[in-house]
Amino acid sequence: MTILIRNLGEMHSTIDAILSNYEGDGPIRVIWPRRIKKNAQHFQRLFSGNVVYAVKCNPDPTILEALKQGGINNFDVASIGEIEFIKTWNQDSTLYFQHPVKSRSAINLAYQKHGVRHFSIDHRDELNKIFEELPTNPEIVVYVRLATPELGAKEDLSNKFGANAEEASKLLKCIYGGGLSPALSFHVGSQCYRPEAYRVALALVKEVLNISAIPIRCLNLGGGFPVTYAGDLVAPLEVFMKEIDAGLNSLSLDQDVELFCEPGRSLVAEGMSVVARVCLRKKNKLYINDGIFGHFLETYLHGFQPPNRAIRPGSGFSQNIKSFEVFGATCDGNDVLPGKLELPNDIREGDWIEFGNMGAYSLALSSGFNGFGVEAVVSLC
Ligand SMILES: Cc1ncc(COP(=O)(O)O)c(C=O)c1O
Repeated sequence: MTILIRNLGEMHSTIDAILSNYEGDGPIRVIWPRRIKKNAQHFQRLFSGNVVYAVKCNPDPTILEALKQGGINNFDVASIGEIEFIKTWNQDSTLYFQHPVKSRSAINLAYQKHGVRHFSIDHRDELNKIFEELPTNPEIVVYVRLATPELGAKEDLSNKFGANAEEASKLLKCIYGGGLSPALSFHVGSQCYRPEAYRVALALVKEVLNISAIPIRCLNLGGGFPVTYAGDLVAPLEVFMKEIDAGLNSLSLDQDVELFCEPGRSLVAEGMSVVARVCLRKKNKLYINDGIFGHFLETYLHGFQPPNRAIRPGSGFSQNIKSFEVFGATCDGNDVLPGKLELPNDIREGDWIEFGNMGAYSLALSSGFNGFGVEAVVSLC
């Protein structure tokens, strides 16, 4: 059963204090709304356009509220499900339907019922759907998504989506000729370690603008900004922004082009921890009550190791450290965390492990397989 311990107000407490009083023994999701709000404000200070949040990354209402408090009220959505969810939560938000493949019913519902005016495409047939389903209205902004070269992202997205420069330029002309407003977008890939990826992508934007000679209404720089997982060396956001500014300077865009980006991970990853319990120890193997079918699928897919620490409420651990293989809760043989975790030698059944920087693509990908799930959700100051 999931016990939601939400809206506790300003809880000046720590995970250790919560565990001392916790009577359950299922995993706990801990959210820090203030960190998320601060991250949102920091990002907006550094970026010269609007910041739109990619809902897919983490749709938890406490997280959305914290982003709103931090000044972010526009959202990148990928489906009618996300559109309805956000519109129910906040009718006033502006939505950007940035999935380049949509059903006709989704295009219609988004436009007619939810007032969506921003749609992404990367192929002529997808553009035809928009022409056929929607009226000729210059308020409709159609983004041609560009494929970008693979440059240091953990999750490449251009193997699946994106047009090359020549195709993109033809699509821009069709959009313009069809009476809709042309725009461009790209996504350099998620958890992108190389800041220059954005400058390279913006050079591609320049090439498309030169070939097509079509004025664009909006330019969307996507997401991809990285956070730190164990063993990562990640450049600060400022370095990414410098590359973006250099790329933008070389474009000389008209002043009225609306510029935005749509990060997910970098806004919310640091704002959530998952605290899981050790259910069994077999020598160097630990069995915990969360796993890859819970919050840890992305760690498994990309080999991320979130920062972690062992907790034994009310007492300490041995100073000696040992490497442990950590197995997840389900019966599936694949349910094991990547790499080995360095934990106290004397860790045992009943101890807890906090996994930090777990706000991105964790809750959103949890399946509840085998009936396992989070037991408590706590917001901390
Ligand atoms: C279209 C789009 N925008 C934004 C994002 C968010 O990316 P990130 O979390 O890497 O910032 C994604 C992630 O897959 C995406 O597909």
